[in-house]
Amino acid sequence: MKVLVATEKPFAAAAVNGIKAEVEGAGHQLVLLEKYTEKQQLLDAVADVEAMIVRSDKVTAEVLDAAKALKIVVRAGAGFDNVDIAYAKEKNVVVENTPGQNSNAVAELVFGLLVYAVRNFYNGKSGSELLGKKLGILAFGNVGRNVARIAKGFGMDVYAYDAFCPKDVIEAAGVKAVDSQDALFENCDVVSLHIPATPETKQSINAALVGKMKKGGILVNTARKEVINEPELLKLLEERTDLKYVSDIMPDAHEEFCKFEGRYFATPKKMGAQTAEANINAGIAAAKQINAFFADGCTKFQVNK
Ligand code: 3PG
Repeated sequence: MKVLVATEKPFAAAAVNGIKAEVEGAGHQLVLLEKYTEKQQLLDAVADVEAMIVRSDKVTAEVLDAAKALKIVVRAGAGFDNVDIAYAKEKNVVVENTPGQNSNAVAELVFGLLVYAVRNFYNGKSGSELLGKKLGILAFGNVGRNVARIAKGFGMDVYAYDAFCPKDVIEAAGVKAVDSQDALFENCDVVSLHIPATPETKQSINAALVGKMKKGGILVNTARKEVINEPELLKLLEERTDLKYVSDIMPDAHEEFCKFEGRYFATPKKMGAQTAEANINAGIAAAKQINAFFADGCTKFQVNK
């Protein structure tokens, strides 16, 4: 079988070597398309492959149509909003993700962004500390749980809300479970977003919600830009000059956010999962999942059943 690794934002070399060893060890052939800049390069590369590994690369209906022999796509990472899973299902293409494999990397970056924000983006002015501050985690999945673990090391008071995770599971992790998103924003000094981009969550982080934050509130986004209602957040930052927004996903309205100097920062490229460790974990997991699929039809991590 031909296994394509198509990554606009490439894995670390060690991860690529690990993927190659897994794929070739199982008797398959690895094809690499890294740092591509044109959609056509992807359309050409998928033409004759049976499997592909991607990151945030867009696997659209057009890509799936061009991939005539494709049986399985593995998104090496958590969020699969970049893959047209419904169309893949129609075409009998299995789509999987690799949950948990890059979550520590993303969680560590939350604190990179947070320390940067509370220390006034290192502008020389006196900042504040995280110790004793209330942190609200919105969605208690793999990243949220890692954020909670690290937050305790900072001595933060940790809260979480997750519409799909029972309260006792949150409490068992030593985190205070609150009843609603509203309660999380009202109660916490910092809110860290870990919700996926779905029709229900898109634009759900709006002015009514963020506006509930206490004076000096900080919103951290290492999830997806689509969950933010950008026009409303821009307006709110205008009105509430005490609020800060730090993000690992550059908003569409980045230029407009930039006018809030000292209260806004976005990484130029999404960096949350961009560590050697996360690349190795997620990349090798993806390769192993593909091998298991071809060896015995295993679809344990399928997201388009
Ligand atoms: C994920 O969903 O796993 C993260 O957002 C990482 O995305 P990336 O592979 O594009 O860095």
